[in-house]
Amino acid sequence: MAKNIILIGFMGVGKGSIAREIVRQSGMVALDTDDVIESMENRKVKTIFEEEGEAYFRGLEQTVAHWLEKDVKHTLISTGGGFFKVGNLGKIGTVVLLHADFDTIYRRITTHPNAEKKLKKRPLFRDESSARKLYDEREPTYAKAADVVIDVAGKTPEKVAKEILKKVIKK
Ligand code: S3P
Repeated sequence: MAKNIILIGFMGVGKGSIAREIVRQSGMVALDTDDVIESMENRKVKTIFEEEGEAYFRGLEQTVAHWLEKDVKHTLISTGGGFFKVGNLGKIGTVVLLHADFDTIYRRITTHPNAEKKLKKRPLFRDESSARKLYDEREPTYAKAADVVIDVAGKTPEKVAKEILKKVIKK
């Protein structure tokens, strides 16, 4: 497989756990764009939002996107929920959208044993109504950015990972 696989999707949809499962099943090397940004900046995403604002963070995402396009190959890339807006997404690799309806995502994030931590580290998931509004705004554009759409509701990360590998390898 020559290309990268890029996982996009809304906060809390399960990009991280599905990425870990793809790695387990395929042996691919993986990276996460939020982790790359945190190492570049030596501070947490939440702190970057607080100290610099969202526009600065989006600029960092674009910097990472240029680096991925130029220098990264054969890698599974998981992304922050807004990363799909970078200008060169399609040039990085095969874009896989993980899709679930908002209620499924909300339930997943709020019933997680670490729910408080998960919500705290996501400045754009402050409360249910603002998160739902953002979801509704993004929903149509996510699908446009994707080469492959995978429904994740009611499926285990193991099943989703298997589905992604089957579809992307066939492509
Ligand atoms: C964001 C999602 C977050 C993180 C930042 C902004 C977004 O990542 O990149 O808080 O705009 O949706 P997760 O999708 O991993 O929560």
